[in-house]
Amino acid sequence: MDGLREKYLELIAGAGDASALETLRVQALGKKGEISLQMRELGRMTPEERQTAGPALNALKDEINSALVAKKSGLEDAALDARLLDEWLDVTLPSRGRPAGTIHPISQVTEEVTAIFADMGFASAEGPQIESDWYNFDALNIPGHHPARAEMDTFYMHRAEGDNRPPAVLRTHTSPVQIRTLEAQGAPIRVIAPGRVYRADYDQTHTPMFHQIEGLAIDKDISMANLKWVLEEFVKSFFGVDDVDLRFRASHFPFTEPSAEVDIRCSWEGGTLKVGEGDDWLEILGSGMVHPKVLQAASVDPVQWQGFAFGMGIDRIAMLKYGIPDLRAFFDSDLRWLRHYGFSALDVPTMRGGV
Ligand code: PHE
Repeated sequence: MDGLREKYLELIAGAGDASALETLRVQALGKKGEISLQMRELGRMTPEERQTAGPALNALKDEINSALVAKKSGLEDAALDARLLDEWLDVTLPSRGRPAGTIHPISQVTEEVTAIFADMGFASAEGPQIESDWYNFDALNIPGHHPARAEMDTFYMHRAEGDNRPPAVLRTHTSPVQIRTLEAQGAPIRVIAPGRVYRADYDQTHTPMFHQIEGLAIDKDISMANLKWVLEEFVKSFFGVDDVDLRFRASHFPFTEPSAEVDIRCSWEGGTLKVGEGDDWLEILGSGMVHPKVLQAASVDPVQWQGFAFGMGIDRIAMLKYGIPDLRAFFDSDLRWLRHYGFSALDVPTMRGGV
């Protein structure tokens, strides 16, 4: 028995892990374990022998058992200590610096434009990007056969066979928001509507998704002169200069009469875009006096009410203001570009604080 005790206590003390301990337990105390076999011998002893051997064997069994349990918890403690040491973390250290995100130039410019027009009494409105062809075209005096539909490079939404709902499109401009806000609020009204628009077009100054901001002012005595003043005020505030050269070019839109496109003087020298100088012109918006049929489509009486509308390319004016030469880079999600052209989250445009 002394031999067994010594043997197992030594083996247990030297066991390296839980599975080695389990092997030892089976070897000593399992059904066919060495100690169990000794227990069986008890039957063949005389009652006197059994009286001393029985309790001694039981005591040995208990001793080995407790040695196993003690060693097991010792191994667990050691494992925990090792893990604690390994995963040790000084929570009082300052956190690792993470590069802060930036506000995308489109978001920044949208806020700037909104602040400037808010100052002139324009509220902000929104409409859906997936639009019915009625709002995108018909209500804006662009009937089915009109060439403007083809010119717009419209993305049509797929309709399953047998789906009889009217065709839906990705809106090609923000002008449908004119109809929606007029329907909802009636006249008089002064709103702008910024948002995404879609056309199948792609080069240095065109992307299939881009941004416009619609303007709409309807009242009893609004004229083209008001349109011109509002746009000039806007451009001066936006670019922060007094002498921006604007060109009002006679144009045609089915939903305005008369219509004018507005270009801004700029130069592209050395790949950088500069506003206010040079011999180039960049078209930034379309505008005009709202066509009576458009008012009618929105249930506004064109005999009583009139006004102007414009649609401006947000991306275009962002390129101009911040000297960004390629429109496509706006939507590449290149972090280096965003860090270079992006804005601080604290740099919120207001008329008071500056845009
Ligand atoms: N919707 C026109 C476009 O996308 C712009 C526009 C808006 C023109 C409002 C006149 C009035 O080209």
